[in-house]
Amino acid sequence: MAGVPIAPARVLAWTTFALLVSVVVNADGVGINWGTLMSHPMLPTTVVGMLKANGITKVKLFDADPWTVGALAGTGIETMLAIPNDQLGRMSSKFKHAKKWVENNVTKYDNNGGVNIKYVAVGNEPFLKSYNGSFMNTTFPALKNVQRALNKAGVGNRIKAVVPLNADVYNSPGNNPLPSAGSFRSDIRTLMFEIVHYLNSNGAPFVVNIYPFISLYQSASFPIDYAFFDGGSIPVNDKGVKYTNVFDANYDTLVWSLKKAGVPNMKIIVGEVGWPTDGDKNANVTNAKRFYDGLLKKVAKKEGTPLRPGPMEMYIFGLIDEDQKSVQPGNFERHWGIFTYDGKPKFPMDLTGRGEDRHLVSAVGVKHLPSQWCVLNEDAKDKYKQLPISVNYACSYADCTPLGYGSSCYGLSQNENISYSFNIYFQTMDQDVRACDFGGLAKITMKNASQGSCLFPVQIVSTGDKAAVARILVLAVSVLMIGAMVFV
Ligand SMILES: *[C@@H]1O[C@H](CO)[C@@H](O)[C@H](O)[C@H]1NC(C)=O
Ligand SMILES: *[C@@H]1O[C@H](CO)[C@@H](O)[C@H](O)[C@H]1NC(C)=O
Ligand SMILES: *[C@@H]1O[C@H](CO)[C@@H](O)[C@H](O)[C@H]1NC(C)=O
Ligand SMILES: *[C@@H]1O[C@H](CO)[C@@H](O)[C@H](O)[C@H]1NC(C)=O
Ligand SMILES: *[C@@H]1O[C@H](CO)[C@@H](O)[C@H](O)[C@H]1NC(C)=O
Ligand SMILES: *[C@@H]1O[C@H](CO)[C@@H](O)[C@H](O)[C@H]1NC(C)=O
Repeated sequence: MAGVPIAPARVLAWTTFALLVSVVVNADGVGINWGTLMSHPMLPTTVVGMLKANGITKVKLFDADPWTVGALAGTGIETMLAIPNDQLGRMSSKFKHAKKWVENNVTKYDNNGGVNIKYVAVGNEPFLKSYNGSFMNTTFPALKNVQRALNKAGVGNRIKAVVPLNADVYNSPGNNPLPSAGSFRSDIRTLMFEIVHYLNSNGAPFVVNIYPFISLYQSASFPIDYAFFDGGSIPVNDKGVKYTNVFDANYDTLVWSLKKAGVPNMKIIVGEVGWPTDGDKNANVTNAKRFYDGLLKKVAKKEGTPLRPGPMEMYIFGLIDEDQKSVQPGNFERHWGIFTYDGKPKFPMDLTGRGEDRHLVSAVGVKHLPSQWCVLNEDAKDKYKQLPISVNYACSYADCTPLGYGSSCYGLSQNENISYSFNIYFQTMDQDVRACDFGGLAKITMKNASQGSCLFPVQIVSTGDKAAVARILVLAVSVLMIGAMVFV
């Protein structure tokens, strides 16, 4: 043991120093959205460890869940908390509700060693066209009440209330692709004017979610290269200003809309931007990597857009896949993570924007359930007429989106397809043996059932939370229902 301590200690110190430096340089201006609509969330402390290991210094949440928020305490990670849309009515109705919310979810954590809260998001894309105006009357009053509560708590100068909005709040008449033709959507124009003036006078930014992937998804004629940042598409010429990617064009459409609304210098933050890796023909790892490579280089170069050159602030969407998100926008909705459900990076990604092909650091300490799968029992041919009911049942609770057209498991044989649905249900139900029965149609196997690029996952051990309780209920009901369907 003699004679060794000094040198290694120094090496260690230097290694630590080097790590710190790279951590500080990493992810400058780039934060990440941490959504939790998953059947088996990793422990919040595990996720926070993963954020730290990757030098991610900013997160945006979709609620103020005490477990998640608590895990961020003492890390210095800059945090955007959120009030979900279903609470906007309440927040708008009485100031005291907003005051209470701020006391319980902001002030409580806003202390030394607490959480570095910077924003409170009031709602999430509340004016999305598909909401049919449901939050039209409540969003602005809720915003004002929350900011007033923050002011009253003495933190309003540091913590700003904002409203993350989808880019569908502005557009150009007749789908004119020129940013200069843009303005706020006519059905909410007056309301948007009031909101942006309020935010701006309060020093709060406009938070906008921009999705080049969705532009491509929604239009068969969209030139694919225009969704990325590496040129290759014919530039769009807006009175001498040239656009080579839809992200810049979309961002500058907002700049024009703000100008027309009388707040030309209002600060903009991109609340969500990213590319999914499954659930659509254009959603794969190759495209996601191409998109992020271009985006991150652009951020690192502080290029900005033609109308707003300079540094940009943005939050990647998203951190981890969420197998319980609504698929109403499309099957890709559950596959936005740059990490898999079990905390592994999906592709090389350089958050410094230097374009070096390195892998992000995986989550540490994630435990999987045993290596076993649930598959179709091919000996049960006499019961095959029950298959459609069983498959529908499995897929109504578990995530079968990889089976869809253009997705990672499209092209499986019919039997493999059935096995996929049985397995994903079994895994979602924590590998409970009763979840691999389907009236004798299914059986458990120790042989890895994955097929080529189609992963048959093994779930992780998840913690005793609300989601676990809900799963146990679903399982109890399903055992009764499927039993009845098969044996009646
Ligand atoms: C936030 O504050 C409200 C009001 O006191 C409370 O009902 C709620 O449980 C708190 N937590 C979350 C996650 O909203
Ligand atoms: C909005 O309207 C459409 C068509 O009328 C309907 O299908 C949809 O469920 C409505 N959405 C909401 C959130 O009310
Ligand atoms: C919003 O308020 C208007 C005017 O009072 C009313 O006509 C409309 O039904 C309200 N919308 C909702 C979703 O409550
Ligand atoms: C990813 O999608 C593109 C179409 O957008 C396709 O050309 C390419 O082959 C796909 N890559 C992989 C690895 O599936
Ligand atoms: C596989 O399953 C999906 C979803 O249940 C279904 O849409 C598709 O038609 C199935 N494919 C085959 C080959 O059975
Ligand atoms: C099963 O096989 C797939 C594809 O080869 C692999 O990615 C996965 O890690 C394997 N799962 C287990 C639990 O070994």
